Amino acid sequence: MRICCIGAGYVGGPTMAVIALKCPDIEVAVVDISVPRIAAWNSDQLPIYEPGLDDVVKQCRGKNLFFSTDVEKHVREADIVFVSVNTPTKTRGLGAGKAADLTYWESAARMIAEVSKSDKIVVEKSTVPVKTAEAIEKILTHNSKGIKFQILSNPEFLAEGTAIQDLFNPDRVLIGGRETPEGNKAIQALKAVYAHWVPEERILTANLWSAELSKLAANAFLAQRISSVNAMSALCEATGADVTQVSYAVGKDTRIGPKFLNASVGFGGSCFQKDILNLVYICECNGLPEVAEYWKQVIKINDYQKNRFVNRVVASMFNTVSNKKIAILGFAFKKDTGDTRETPAIDVCKGLLGDKARLSIYDPQVTEDQVQRDLSMKKFDWDHPLHLQPMSPTTVKQVSCVWDAYEATKDAHGICILTEWDEFKQLDFKRIYDNMQKPAFVFDGRNIVNMEQLREIGFIVYSIGKPLDAWLKDMPAVA
Ligand code: NAI
Repeated sequence: MRICCIGAGYVGGPTMAVIALKCPDIEVAVVDISVPRIAAWNSDQLPIYEPGLDDVVKQCRGKNLFFSTDVEKHVREADIVFVSVNTPTKTRGLGAGKAADLTYWESAARMIAEVSKSDKIVVEKSTVPVKTAEAIEKILTHNSKGIKFQILSNPEFLAEGTAIQDLFNPDRVLIGGRETPEGNKAIQALKAVYAHWVPEERILTANLWSAELSKLAANAFLAQRISSVNAMSALCEATGADVTQVSYAVGKDTRIGPKFLNASVGFGGSCFQKDILNLVYICECNGLPEVAEYWKQVIKINDYQKNRFVNRVVASMFNTVSNKKIAILGFAFKKDTGDTRETPAIDVCKGLLGDKARLSIYDPQVTEDQVQRDLSMKKFDWDHPLHLQPMSPTTVKQVSCVWDAYEATKDAHGICILTEWDEFKQLDFKRIYDNMQKPAFVFDGRNIVNMEQLREIGFIVYSIGKPLDAWLKDMPAVA
């Protein structure tokens, strides 16, 4: 059997590498139109950082795992074609700011129809709006020259930072297909691939629309938990409750469970916001404005949380950060990834730059180029997509990137911890304090520092959702 995956990104790359590792009898080709991306997959410096990925790729590359830009050849030869291209939010035209942009998907589907010479199973791996399979089916069948295609929905539930672990041991694999004998045969064929390593009871089958919608629903539920606990964190600060104690107590209820209840500066990543906006758009298109409003609130709270954080920083530092050096520890949207798409660090940095701060940024996996690109990119305003504001080049000059947390914090007035990298927990904060301007501030956007220890050293410390000390109480921040 031959598998081809279109799109060698954060999903296509790791997913196919694990299929190749677990199914030595299957030949897997990952193809992409991006020449540098494929070159990186074929080198020692893989294009994405993901713990354990190097090892898996090394074991299979050149044996039954291939990375190539010859998209058409590999699609033509494949029995199963996964499509794992990007599906970002539309920034212009109908549905701008909410709907998924299916341009890449559609062009991939047209190409599959054009080059295919044998029947194929086409698998939606990208996250797509519910009912996309119907559109894809139409494109394929109207251009197919008699070749038969079966469309399956097989959304990916991996999380960046733990992708390999998640793929080795998934909570579930979901396969949706047409409820016809041919649809069922296709489902069984894909099931047989996963059955090489996933226990049968964890491979769920469903109809196409349920599978497509389940992915949007799962991301909406996950993001909603974060916004719920973040909303509580604001109330904790106002009342003297401690959000860690509250989420521990809440999570002990087995109906709720303890995971995904950490308060933070906000969620990021390429998926949560995009998928919720997509869900909101689908609800609006289906005449369900109340449901749309409900899910929109999850994003509004996330934006509120990022603003609140910036306001807290500025308010605590005498209501101005103009020309003050602020160290930014962590820029990726979470630890163990170099991915900065929709990272809360972008909004926090832009907020501080808006108040004319000088930023010194350190992230173990994010390059200066990436930071500069992210900060000079037009701000995507999901609520008003037509009023996009680019950062001015002079503002970007206020930013420098360094390769060490001690360098970043030297002579700084304040520190913002924006990613929960393990190494930040081990920092010598006494040494950092001695080299900072006084009063020295720590704003912990991930609740990873020991507040008491830092206060003993002399820092003024703010942690999300934790009781405020006298200083912070005297300098109230209005969100
Ligand atoms: P990505 O942007 O890292 O990768 C997509 C790749 O597709 C790019 O390398 C691009 O060059 C390539 N591509 C686009 N059009 C193409 C075409 N016509 N032919 C060949 N290659 C083409 O995106 P990522 O993060 O891998 O996401 C892919 C999909 O998976 C999205 O729909 C996303 O929502 C979904 N997803 C992402 C997860 C994540 O953690 N990143 C998790 C679960 C789902």
